[in-house]
Amino acid sequence: MTDTLESHIPGLLDQLEGKSPAQAFQILTAQFPGKVTFSSSFGYEDQVITHDILSNGLGISIFTLDTGRMFAETYSVWNSTNERYDTRIKAYYPNHDMLENFVLERGPNSFYESVENRTGCCYIRKVEPLGRALRSNTVWITGLRAEQSNARKDLPMVEWDAKHGIIKYHPLLHWTFEQVKEYIHANNIPYNPLHDKGFVSIGCAPCTRAIRPGEDFRAGRWWWENKSDKECGLHVGTSGSEDTRENKAEAIVYT
Ligand code: ADX
Ligand code: SF4
Repeated sequence: MTDTLESHIPGLLDQLEGKSPAQAFQILTAQFPGKVTFSSSFGYEDQVITHDILSNGLGISIFTLDTGRMFAETYSVWNSTNERYDTRIKAYYPNHDMLENFVLERGPNSFYESVENRTGCCYIRKVEPLGRALRSNTVWITGLRAEQSNARKDLPMVEWDAKHGIIKYHPLLHWTFEQVKEYIHANNIPYNPLHDKGFVSIGCAPCTRAIRPGEDFRAGRWWWENKSDKECGLHVGTSGSEDTRENKAEAIVYT
């Protein structure tokens, strides 16, 4: 294989095997200085990663996709994270023309009406800004965990995201929910108080609810949809697979 970015993946899988997140981050920043970025939604997993990055002074940029529809608690934990680590986490915002047209045409809560409207809203508020956030980076770190869903259970720790032309790394892929929680408490890391109220996976306020005992981790996301695969388009199309759902969302937004 010629020396493309994708050709680094088998070597990285070997190098990062068995490493703690902080050790892995050091390896990545040494190989790709200034080109490693982390996306945070301020949930439990993301707070673990943010802590490891900022308390070790690693040269990894951190960004969030502020959809404008997040919980008040999410903005609070963002603010306390800035204060605790003396940092300013950068936010990317939706394109205002796209959002204004979409809301004018379909209304502010159109996501409850159809999967098409919901994926359109996610496309404008998350997926399009993500493309801008990842531009000019080589490695994208996420807080995905295998336990979260069927779609995530077989992910490799390092994978090629063909859509963004970027290497994706999931340092907590094999951590359990309990391990994440223990790490948060052991290190006194700021966390979203909604986690104490039965919220496991936290996205936008109108599209997230707490889960009941026995429900799966993502049952509280887009709970009114029973036929969709409960993804917003940030993490589909990985490993080179074609992202047809997102292409559809893009089409409704532009037509
Ligand atoms: S989602 O695709 O359903 O929205 P989920 O909430 O499980 O994703 O989060 C998985 C990972 O996606 C997070 O660990 C984080 O890396 C990234 N992510 C999700 N939402 C955001 C956001 N609003 N801003 C930045 N990163 C996000
Ligand atoms: Fe829109 Fe809901 Fe997607 Fe947030 S999660 S971008 S409010 S559809």
